Amino acid sequence: MTILLTGGAGFIGSHMAGALLSKNKAFVVIDNLSNSDTTNLKRLEDHYAKTIDFYPDDLRDEQSLRKVFTKYNINSIIHFAALKSVPESVMKPDLYHDNNVGGSKVLMAMAKEFDVKSFIFSSSATVYGEPQYLPVDENHPIKPSNPYGKSKVDTENLLVHDRYFSDQCSTKILRYFNPIGSYPHGLIGESPRGIPSNLMPYLLRVASKEYPYLKVYGDDYPTPDGSAIRDYIHIMDLVEAHYLAMSHATVGVHVWNVGTGKGISVLELLHTFNAVNGLSIPYEMHPRRPGDVSSMFADTAKIKQELGWLAKRDLGDMCRDTWLFKQRDA
Ligand code: NAD
Ligand code: WQD
Repeated sequence: MTILLTGGAGFIGSHMAGALLSKNKAFVVIDNLSNSDTTNLKRLEDHYAKTIDFYPDDLRDEQSLRKVFTKYNINSIIHFAALKSVPESVMKPDLYHDNNVGGSKVLMAMAKEFDVKSFIFSSSATVYGEPQYLPVDENHPIKPSNPYGKSKVDTENLLVHDRYFSDQCSTKILRYFNPIGSYPHGLIGESPRGIPSNLMPYLLRVASKEYPYLKVYGDDYPTPDGSAIRDYIHIMDLVEAHYLAMSHATVGVHVWNVGTGKGISVLELLHTFNAVNGLSIPYEMHPRRPGDVSSMFADTAKIKQELGWLAKRDLGDMCRDTWLFKQRDA
């Protein structure tokens, strides 16, 4: 029995791969390397002295996908593969729909044909749009404010309205909030291509003096220190939620928010990063970034009750582990 990790060379997928290696679980990775390279997978192979079966294919290539499903007895899929840049999705909405929704459609058809019984989909808190109440629970209205978020909603709806995924498969939709951090001992971490739009990878490049300073977008939000609030979750807590979700065999579509339930401001994260790592990262206050919401953090009661999962690592762990990776990656 084999687990398929689509997008398994990326930030979250490669951390999932590491966790599966540490548990001696059989898996195979498909990733077209559009936003990653094989560095993380190679480091994991060296660390665990194991070979990772990796196929540099595009999910939309049905022929390549079929070869993998024919060769491996796939019983579980974790579908990480997607383009995830909000600003890019605004500029290229058709690409995001074709890649994220189109790729999911090909994968779903293959999963049905090969009778896969467990399917986890990487969704995002972005599906909620501007929060109407906080903390945000799974019943919050779905109102994505960008094509990326819409591609996640469209894929969720495909799963919900398909009888195979609702009546014969255990289908799990995980809505991630803001994952950061790295694998234990900094073995692997997040290294996006190009200039990062996300806070932590940008901050890391300032810390390593690749960039002169961090721009903090917005000091006039209705928050205690004026900077925006998010629910940052350690990547290893997120990975552990997937592991628990995989063993949840109940047929039907299950939706869970995956966050810590704690809102942290940009300035709080910056000050914590400096404090735990003994750094003093230069920053400048800048106007709000268009499209940003003031505050967003999760209500995690449902995943706690139904999966028995709760985030264990705190902001200090996230900042410490991230810096450990950067120093190792230097
Ligand atoms: P990532 O870009 O590091 O990983 C995604 C991987 O998918 C990349 O390696 C990319 O090469 C691959 N990919 C993209 N399109 C593909 C295709 N058509 N065929 C094959 N491979 C393809 O991003 P990540 O942060 O690891 O995110 C993983 C998943 O989690 C994504 O679905 C993303 O939308 C979702 N998510 C991420 C965050 C976050 O903040 N990182 C938050 C919420 C949800
Ligand atoms: C966090 C906070 C920024 C960079 C995005 C996607 C979401 C999900 C997670 C995929 C905000 C501030 C950032 C910087 C800053 N990804 N910031 N200076 O916007 O909450 O969510 O990533 O699903 O879909 O929208 O995360 O890390 O971009 O920003 O001040 O250089 O940090 O304004 O308040 P965000 P982020």
